[in-house]
Amino acid sequence: MEYTTLGETGVEVSRICLGCMSFGRGEPWMLDDEEATDLIDRAIDLGVNFFDTANAYSGGESERILGNALAGHDRDEQVVATKVFFPVEEGPNRSGLSRKTVEQELDASLGRLGMDTIDLYQIHRWDDDTPIETTLRALDDAVRRGKVRYLGASSMWAYQFADALHASDRLGLDRFATMQDHYNLAYREEEREMLPLCQQEGVGVIPWGPLGQGYLARPHEQLETTTRADPSNVHNPTPEYGAAGGEEVNERVEELAEEYGVTMAQLALAWLFQNEFVDAPIVGTTSVEHLEQAVEALDVDLSASDVEYLEAPYEPKPVIGHD
Ligand SMILES: NC(=O)c1ccc[n+]([C@@H]2O[C@H](COP(=O)([O-])OP(=O)(O)OC[C@H]3O[C@@H](n4cnc5c(N)ncnc54)[C@H](OP(=O)(O)O)[C@@H]3O)[C@@H](O)[C@H]2O)c1
Repeated sequence: MEYTTLGETGVEVSRICLGCMSFGRGEPWMLDDEEATDLIDRAIDLGVNFFDTANAYSGGESERILGNALAGHDRDEQVVATKVFFPVEEGPNRSGLSRKTVEQELDASLGRLGMDTIDLYQIHRWDDDTPIETTLRALDDAVRRGKVRYLGASSMWAYQFADALHASDRLGLDRFATMQDHYNLAYREEEREMLPLCQQEGVGVIPWGPLGQGYLARPHEQLETTTRADPSNVHNPTPEYGAAGGEEVNERVEELAEEYGVTMAQLALAWLFQNEFVDAPIVGTTSVEHLEQAVEALDVDLSASDVEYLEAPYEPKPVIGHD
């Protein structure tokens, strides 16, 4: 395993973060306790020490499963990230980023994870109904109380993120150390504003959907054969991946994967590993074999001309992942 420093936190994380959205119930492709625990155990064997979940994944089940699975391992080495914004259950004060919701949800996450402290606590989205200063004060208090070590944010407009960073600096509060945004070879809108902002501000970047939710892992004609791609699934790959040059990108991934003797998923991950903006992609997999492939992809060394070839067909597309 290769390790990197997460933004400017000084924290060492594996270059692969294991996404835990697929643990729990609700969709046919999700893993139950035992299957998820096997996957987490294997990830730790392979040197993965970075795990991403959220309060809302499977109504809290993902956090519970992750916490139980990590309990048998050395917690000092693990870096656990979770999120707040989306509701675990419906009702008033169950979602958003008010002080009330943040404090309640943080305690609930700590309880499900069975931990005293969360390493990285992320706001899952921007909340138009709560001033960012209010949220930042609640998050800063959580850090002072020892419930959270570092703060992170997820998909939003770059102007909002810049506003949040500026507000925390102005108020002398802990600032967001990481950005978890949507980024892969078939969705590169973040290169316009968000990624240069993160670089300028020393913010670590941990992309979600690094494989385009499976779109980049197989020829585009075969996408619909997967359970995950069933349109009834909430997290099915967006048809936008194939738009605006996306199919040609997919075909070039297939072509170069063959040349390098690797799978398409490995090639798509190799592109992220060589990307100057990215600390660690958050890989979502339900299979030990696919996890092992992701780790092997760290050894795939793309030439500069192949990177250029992979990127060339991409054209701008509508923003996907936040409003
Ligand atoms: N912040 C946010 O708003 C946000 C949004 C979405 C996701 N996330 C985070 O990001 C993580 C990853 O997201 P994601 O699962 O949507 O995206 P992803 O990692 O781009 O795609 C996962 C899909 O790729 C397939 N796959 C993975 N490795 C493969 C391989 N080697 N060969 C073939 N197929 C492979 C998986 O199938 P198999 O299961 O069969 O391997 C799965 O269907 C989540 O778990 C979550 O932690 C965050």
